[in-house]
Amino acid sequence: MGEVDPAFIQDPEHRPKLSATEVEGIPLIDLSLINSPHSVTDPRVFEGLVAEIGNACKDWGFFQVINHGVLLEKRQRIEAAARKFFALPLEEKRKIRRDEGNVLGYYDTEHTKNVRDWKEVFDFTVEEPTLVPASPDPEDTEETEWYNQWPEYPPELRNACEEYAREVENLALKLMGLIALGLGLPKDRFNSYFKNQTSFLRLNHYPPCPSPQLALGVGRHKDGGALTVLAQDDVGGLEVKRKTDGVWIRVKPTPNAFIINVGDVIQVWSNERYESVEHRAMVNSEKERFSIPYFLNPAHYTQVKPLEELINEQNPAKYKPYCWGKFITHRKLSNFKKLNTENIQISHFKISE
Ligand code: OGA
Ligand code: NI
Repeated sequence: MGEVDPAFIQDPEHRPKLSATEVEGIPLIDLSLINSPHSVTDPRVFEGLVAEIGNACKDWGFFQVINHGVLLEKRQRIEAAARKFFALPLEEKRKIRRDEGNVLGYYDTEHTKNVRDWKEVFDFTVEEPTLVPASPDPEDTEETEWYNQWPEYPPELRNACEEYAREVENLALKLMGLIALGLGLPKDRFNSYFKNQTSFLRLNHYPPCPSPQLALGVGRHKDGGALTVLAQDDVGGLEVKRKTDGVWIRVKPTPNAFIINVGDVIQVWSNERYESVEHRAMVNSEKERFSIPYFLNPAHYTQVKPLEELINEQNPAKYKPYCWGKFITHRKLSNFKKLNTENIQISHFKISE
């Protein structure tokens, strides 16, 4: 990508300030316990860990995990394959370009002018195919299927992606178990939502940017799903908006760690005990950067609403139920049609006080 096209220039609201604070930042949590064979039978062993995760979800909406059990070899393999893929000529990558008919595959924002992100991405789902509503229209009950599009080169990309996805899925579901315990729920409380999951992964490539003060890799946003498990490389650039004062905090890369964040669905399920938090990715002028988020999402027919166990007369439901599949198809389609209307947000389902 060459000069910064005016379409990439972030409006002042979104423009990176050079003053992001480099502090210790988001909590770092050691997950050795969940991978130790001794802890399985006695739930008390988990108590400290459950509290740490609960506090991190409440105070930050973000944390990093180490000793998470995901095989380093699988991560290195997908990272290497992603590098090879993004290094291909544009014509080659665009053979598996996403379009209105298929929301999965490759896209670059240089050719999607009103997307103000300095990046290119490759999306694939965990379930093949993934069942979703055919349209965001609530009246329309028709379903459709999403299929992955794999590139010819590098040939190992597909298998690397599939194996990595399985590993990280395991971690994501274990974390959902710990989050459930922290909310005073049974460990398996969330399991059924992830049968027929609509989870997907994204390979992100942020090329070096000639004017990094004018653009962002990803503008500020919240993740719409349940939980995100992000692998970032050693370049760094992710920033999280600190809940206490709204200051942007840089997440320093920790080798082999994953960054976990709560998405909008957990915010609703927990009736705002845990909130999804804004984040963004900076670019820099010298180094390209890679990251791989795993977006853990429920089945499309899930009616997302505050869990019965967490509401009562003193603490009534803060959201009306909404259909996850309608929400996600609405977002995917409006990204294509580049509608000027505001994208769908969970705040649209908020019950006013
Ligand atoms: C995302 C995201 C951050 C990063 O893709 O939703 O927040 O560091 N990415 O790439
Ligand atoms: Ni995100």
